[in-house]
Amino acid sequence: MENIPLYKDASQPVEARVEDLLSRMTMEEKIGQMTQSYGGEYASEEEYVAAIRAGKIGSRIGCDTPWAGSAPVKGINVVQSNAHQKVAVEESRLGIPLINGRDIIHGHRTVAPIPLAQAASFDPEEVKASARTAAIECSAQSIHWTFAPMMDICRNPRWGRVIETLGEDPYLAEEMAVAMTQGFQGDDQTKEDCIAACAKHFAGYGYCEGGRDYDASEISRGTLHNVVLRPFKAAVTRGKISTIMTSFQDNGGTPSSSSNFLLREMLREGWGFDGFVVSDWGSIQQVELWGAAQDKKDVVRKCLLSGVNMEMINNLYPKYVAELVAEGEVPQQIVDDLVRGILRIKFRLGLFEKPYVDIEERAKDIRKPEAIAAVRKQAANCMVLAENNGILPLEGDALKGLRIALVGPMVNERRSMGGAWNTGGFTEEFTTIHEAFKEAEKKYGFKLIVHDSELWDAQVRTAAFLADMIICCVGEHCDMTGEMPSISKYRLPLGQDDLIEAVRTTGKPFVVVCTSGRPLPVPGARDFADALLYSWHGGGETARAIVDVIFGEAEPTGRFPITVPEHEGQIPIYYGRKIPGKVVECNKDRFNKERKGQLDKPWIYGSYEYFLPMYPFGYGLSYTEFALSDIKLASAEIPYGGTNKVTAVVENIGNRAGTTVVQCYLADPRCMISRPCKELIGFKKLRLEAGEKREIEFEIGEPAMGFYDENGVRHVEAGEFKIGVGFDSDVELDMSFTMAK
Ligand code: BGC
Repeated sequence: MENIPLYKDASQPVEARVEDLLSRMTMEEKIGQMTQSYGGEYASEEEYVAAIRAGKIGSRIGCDTPWAGSAPVKGINVVQSNAHQKVAVEESRLGIPLINGRDIIHGHRTVAPIPLAQAASFDPEEVKASARTAAIECSAQSIHWTFAPMMDICRNPRWGRVIETLGEDPYLAEEMAVAMTQGFQGDDQTKEDCIAACAKHFAGYGYCEGGRDYDASEISRGTLHNVVLRPFKAAVTRGKISTIMTSFQDNGGTPSSSSNFLLREMLREGWGFDGFVVSDWGSIQQVELWGAAQDKKDVVRKCLLSGVNMEMINNLYPKYVAELVAEGEVPQQIVDDLVRGILRIKFRLGLFEKPYVDIEERAKDIRKPEAIAAVRKQAANCMVLAENNGILPLEGDALKGLRIALVGPMVNERRSMGGAWNTGGFTEEFTTIHEAFKEAEKKYGFKLIVHDSELWDAQVRTAAFLADMIICCVGEHCDMTGEMPSISKYRLPLGQDDLIEAVRTTGKPFVVVCTSGRPLPVPGARDFADALLYSWHGGGETARAIVDVIFGEAEPTGRFPITVPEHEGQIPIYYGRKIPGKVVECNKDRFNKERKGQLDKPWIYGSYEYFLPMYPFGYGLSYTEFALSDIKLASAEIPYGGTNKVTAVVENIGNRAGTTVVQCYLADPRCMISRPCKELIGFKKLRLEAGEKREIEFEIGEPAMGFYDENGVRHVEAGEFKIGVGFDSDVELDMSFTMAK
């Protein structure tokens, strides 16, 4: 057999291959591995290819702008990717393959719901399956690595990037982040259709002040450990995620990309992470812009010492790394370790064995009918039914000949359905709400009325004269979300509240469908509509899924993964808040009754009103009703370090099969530090036939009872714990148990 170098021998252990390859590399080749390029840094394609041949580029990022997700989709040139890979593998000295990265955030060619919507599904299995499909599709087009899942906790939904988050809650985000990671990475990373995932943005980007993208953040150490870092830790320790991306922002004086505390103390020493860290686009250079380094060279020194393995876009590393090592400012050992992390992942992905895509063979993996059907089902599962007086679903004989009018700005909207981080789907493959209703007209036997003008008053007038009921389609364009476009007014865009009011004055029954990236408050719909459905930017099949839900073919099973404020002045508002030092009691029922129908009143008077959202975290209706009974704690007292259990019986008390999400919350009311008034510690999504009952149980163990102090030390304290089981975060914590000393 031909004598091949050890690192090319797939039968050798990964670590041996890493060491062998590293020992053969020049400094320039090492820096090459630490450099990611989008191509645009080079004057021509020839220059770019020459850099690959010289081993100066270790990774390709398949984006053309610094805000890739918000840029128009151009597709991937797979032939070119294979050609670039051939140069790396066959023409560079050591033949190290490129790792191609791209933002595969919510589906690829088959576009899935935005991540915030996926979190609303409270269905980790479905989320995992969706990420798996995305990995299959993008790997078929030469992508080895996605910059997802994003797991920034977001409590300020003005931030455009809220759509990419998994919501406000650390427990839900942990479960979803692990599910997505496992979906992308699959069960065997060397398989062609398994890709590397990337936990981003490490850490604290979701706390950018005022929800203004790119602004600095201020996060206490307590919040950092107990909230912000939790999903990252879960993705590393449970999900075995391959890579981490730093975040743009400065946190309390230290930009994340040069944070020794985050990247070394927490990530590597604390959690044992052995993959690699990539900067965000230009975030290394940003350390200088924040003023947290003397000059560009000092920035590179700081980022190397903290542990940023790879620089996204070719910028500062190639200029300064060698110099810093030669001058003794950065030990060679540090650079070697950083390169090791990158090579390790390349070996684990099997890139040396299978660097190319068989384009024809893998084309069959793109837009499979079952993948399209799955995102349609997923879109419905993510939808949150916020109001319903029984009008939905529209079913039965009453439908025959029913004249349904569609009005509003989202009726003919196409691109937004795909959401702001659609980098792989083609808009022309999406369906508008208008088209989806047209498709369904015959099947259900209704008569569709859509005025051919985009002017709302003409639409409403026609509806008033001709329709038996109105579906009012409001929402926001996907350009109002994603990277950069944060909004200052947290409400429906201009004029849409008036549109709802105009629809109301027709006196016809009406349903409001809100198609948006964030759950915007829709007070007019809450108070007057017969039903209010939040469909989100639910992917390419959003519109068909809306039809499925409205006509009862599918259920809207989502629950809000983020609190919906009554008023933007309440932001940041989230359920897991601290109990205020002083509370002015207020009768919640009276308050709710009084505010109903009083749209013009600024219902923000005393402390209680500050905290009352339009819809709480975890809230959502089903097409049937559920009841909980026999809620019991296994023990009233447990030994120190022990576990407890709560059981409950869930019953579908309605007359059709349906799905609900039962949630368990805990509080630790007396503690060495103040803790949130309640925290989600478990949820169960279950489908029951009419009249069916099922017993469920929640484990209460260390993960639920433990917490970090401000130094990051974990504790479980003896004493009282309160527990509540219910259908949303408004639940009373009406049970308690004690942990003995
Ligand atoms: C975003 C990242 C993204 C990267 C590459 C940056 O602007 O912040 O989330 O992965 O671009 O597209």
